[in-house]
Amino acid sequence: MIYLPRTQSISQSRRRFLRYLAGGASSSLIFGSIASAKSRELSLEYLCSRFPLNSRCKDYLPGVQAQDTQEKPIQVDVLLTQIKPNVPVLVQGLPNRDRAYLVITEKQQIAPYAIRPICTHLGCTVAWQSTENRFVCPCHGSQYDAQGRVVKGPARRSLPIITAIVKQNQVRLVELSPAIDPR
Ligand code: FES
Repeated sequence: MIYLPRTQSISQSRRRFLRYLAGGASSSLIFGSIASAKSRELSLEYLCSRFPLNSRCKDYLPGVQAQDTQEKPIQVDVLLTQIKPNVPVLVQGLPNRDRAYLVITEKQQIAPYAIRPICTHLGCTVAWQSTENRFVCPCHGSQYDAQGRVVKGPARRSLPIITAIVKQNQVRLVELSPAIDPR
């Protein structure tokens, strides 16, 4: 009689301890599987940004969808009927409402990179001037060609670029510069 409460107490503690262990183990499993799913997603994002033709990327859309200046998603088949060679197309859709220009090649295709319109002299925003066929910086007059290469200083470096991927009739913008600058 004397020992019964003590026995109950020990067994209750044991049960509580086992429940605690079980809870800890299942939490670890849950968090572990969330973390590994997240890291799989991240590695797929990286793989498909760098190598969009990889077989694992068939149904994966990396980055964000490019939109036109009215915030409508760009449909590649429609865009291809409207673009002209060497005339960049202003798009948005990046985080923080940042903008970029799609580069249009001589063959009227969308290049695999887009230009961020940030002057490499002191960081002013440049804009495409169709009358001059150049990006022009309003601050100190630097100019860049349709691929973002410097044609007039004081800037010395080309405009920064990010990755553009054409997939499933969309243009996906990935905030990673291509492994090799194609310019
Ligand atoms: S910031 Fe563009 S030329 Fe100076």
